[in-house]
Amino acid sequence: MSFPNISSKLASTPEWEQLQQLTLALEDSSRNISGLFEQDSRRFDHFSLEAAGILMDYSKHLLTTEIRAALIALASTAGMEAAIAAMFAGETINNTENRPALHVALRSPDTGSAEGKLVHAALAQMEAFVERVNGGSWHGHNGQQITDIVNIGIGGSDLGPAMVYEALAPFHVPNLHCHFVSNVDPVHLEQTLDKLDAASTLFIIASKTFTTLETMLNAKAARQWILNSGVPESGLAQHFVGVSANIEKAAAFGIATDNIFPMWDWVGGRYSLWSAIGLSVALGCGMDNFRKLLSGAHAMDEHFRAAPLEQNMPVLMALLALWYHNFWQAESVVVLPYAQNLHLFPAFLQQLDMESLGKQARRDGSPMTIVSGGIVWGSAGTNGQHSFHQLLHQGTHLIPADFIAIKCSASGNREMHENLLANCFAQSQALMDGKDLDQATAELLEQGLSEDEAAFLAPHWVVPGNRPSTTFMLDKLTPFTLGALTVLYEHKVYAHSVLLGLNAFDQWGVELGKVLGKGIYGAITAEENCTAYDSSTNALINRIRS
Ligand code: F6P
Repeated sequence: MSFPNISSKLASTPEWEQLQQLTLALEDSSRNISGLFEQDSRRFDHFSLEAAGILMDYSKHLLTTEIRAALIALASTAGMEAAIAAMFAGETINNTENRPALHVALRSPDTGSAEGKLVHAALAQMEAFVERVNGGSWHGHNGQQITDIVNIGIGGSDLGPAMVYEALAPFHVPNLHCHFVSNVDPVHLEQTLDKLDAASTLFIIASKTFTTLETMLNAKAARQWILNSGVPESGLAQHFVGVSANIEKAAAFGIATDNIFPMWDWVGGRYSLWSAIGLSVALGCGMDNFRKLLSGAHAMDEHFRAAPLEQNMPVLMALLALWYHNFWQAESVVVLPYAQNLHLFPAFLQQLDMESLGKQARRDGSPMTIVSGGIVWGSAGTNGQHSFHQLLHQGTHLIPADFIAIKCSASGNREMHENLLANCFAQSQALMDGKDLDQATAELLEQGLSEDEAAFLAPHWVVPGNRPSTTFMLDKLTPFTLGALTVLYEHKVYAHSVLLGLNAFDQWGVELGKVLGKGIYGAITAEENCTAYDSSTNALINRIRS
């Protein structure tokens, strides 16, 4: 099967029209999600599934079996099955950069294919290095054991490893700490290094291109810090390794070629955590755990590749997202992991989803006529309940929520963990059921308020409800389940891109700002006052110069 060439846009297909009619009829029928549960006592069974250690409960959506069938029909029309096969077959699905997107090869046990050989050789190189560092035979220039790893990278060369390292805190190897520096704001690097001893610090310069401004400047400053700390030039090799697809540039920076770990142009930055970009995770959590992360990722790959569309978790997630953005005017999706260790997961998903799907041109260059990917945001529960959940419950926006719950905690404190889960389930229930005016009035009267007082306050107590959510549940947050969870969202993004007919693997939109930034840096550091731009930009630049 080759990548589907859908000439007609999805919005002009009969399947779209059918979905539109069913959605309108659903709205007119004034049915709500709670009502759907009343009609079907086994609704949970009918709208949930499990794969790769993850339970997906999507019963709390305003979704009927008819609408689900219409959504699946839409996926078929978009050529979903062929598109999935094309990705796994290594076709040139990144058509604007003329290359495949083969991150699935990074976690495949296959050692026979050309990519498989490269991937497994790189894993062996990582394994040998991890053994040396963690075993103490790789040490700083004066023989001191490495105690701190600083990963310098940005975007996909930072967010994935940082998210996984935090998520796998219970698996950290003793006496080794990983730090992640991404921002070109010098305080990020300086405040990180303030606490460290150069003699026992190892930097990983992680950059696919090895040209990214932020990473290059941070790497240069880190090199200077090491030298200023008394490490001789000859000792630098003990303190710097690189991960890059651009070996030449990494070597030109001064990293010994033996200490450069490869990646390849067929791995997109935001899909690169599974490559040597994950070296900090392999060091900080151990190579065995890195391999378990890859196994969980592969298990979800297999599910995505083989499951029929109606039982395919990433496809269902993509269809729900498309439906909400285009038929319900939902502009954003909130992701709420009820697990403190997953606190960086929403930030990771922001790059994954928004850098992949925030586009207005389709694969063939024609304009996007439907709503592209949406805004992804969120934070760890229960903290969000005491800040932005107010808007989820009573604001005028419809914001579908993804809850992520972990059955067994890494902590032995059962009372606190059960409270955490109770809050998670209560939130999805409150979003769905809400509280109407009669209930609010009755509660206020019961509290002893007069009828007038109750009538005044009751509208403020009303929670409209009927707000949709999906709950994902993992038995435990382990390297395996985290790998599967992360890939679930990766494939949701790809499936969503297929529905939208766009290329999920380029990011041309970020280039303009980079080019303009160079010119503005020139203006800030020039001899004379800047007059080249609009009066706002000129004034801002000149204020800095003064
Ligand atoms: O500017 C966007 C971007 O290219 C991301 O897609 C990428 O993850 C990030 O920059 C970092 O790129 P690199 O790994 O080449 O430094």
